[in-house]
Amino acid sequence: MTAPILKVEGLTAGYQPGLPIIRDVTMHVTTGELVTIIGPNGAGKSTLIKAVAGLLHVEGGKVELAGSDITRIDTHRMADAALAYVPQTDNIFASLTVDENLRLGAQALSKATARERVEEAYQKFPDLRRFAKKKAGVLSGGQRQMLAVGRALLTHPEIVMLDEPSAGLSPKMVDDVFAQLVALRAAGVSILMVEQNAKAAMRISDRTYVLAEGENRLDGPSAALLEDPEVTQIYLGRAGRKQ
Ligand SMILES: Nc1ncnc2c1ncn2[C@@H]1O[C@H](COP(=O)(O)OP(=O)(O)O)[C@@H](O)[C@H]1O
Ligand SMILES: [Mg+2]
Repeated sequence: MTAPILKVEGLTAGYQPGLPIIRDVTMHVTTGELVTIIGPNGAGKSTLIKAVAGLLHVEGGKVELAGSDITRIDTHRMADAALAYVPQTDNIFASLTVDENLRLGAQALSKATARERVEEAYQKFPDLRRFAKKKAGVLSGGQRQMLAVGRALLTHPEIVMLDEPSAGLSPKMVDDVFAQLVALRAAGVSILMVEQNAKAAMRISDRTYVLAEGENRLDGPSAALLEDPEVTQIYLGRAGRKQ
């Protein structure tokens, strides 16, 4: 059996001490997997990945990356720890060019490596090369998302966490971004994404966790959950509630 690249155990965290938003959340991502987290608005999905990324106050539980405890590691050391986080908004600098955005993301690397990695990003996302000298603010939603992902990959993370990569995109762009994520997984990168676009996300992912009211509600192979009426019930906010 392949070892989990990311293991979250009983994580309780929030924005203020004593006011946890997510409670006792347990989940994992196996190396090479694409895992989706879904759940109603306000379920705590963004909070969960922010807590995993080391941005929030953790009250209990543990986060392990490739077997190392990273629960309270400084966020700026996350890249060294091979975990990348792409927030839902403000994930690029609109007033800088595409090339400047990429070079900023590579600044922790040596000059030669940075050059190599930026070139890799251009090979992976030809649109970014086309717009290299343009301000990132003129990119389409899908291209911005690719820039954010391209930048996250510069440090060669083993796992990338994305918060709603399809938010605000046209259906065609959603397909493009999801196709890129599938290609990324094929290249060996493990992915954990939060999605509001639940069905489309489940169609491309291996496993899905359903979160509601800050707690684990349901999980399993995405193909099975796609057919599970309980998922809809949880979205409607009726069944699935713990007694
Ligand atoms: N910066 C914040 N400060 C305090 N509470 C927050 C903050 N961001 C989100 N919350 C609260 O945390 C809960 C879960 O939000 P969030 O994790 O954003 O949900 P989701 O991503 O599932 O829609 C909500 O009740 C929200 O009001
Ligand atoms: Mg959210």
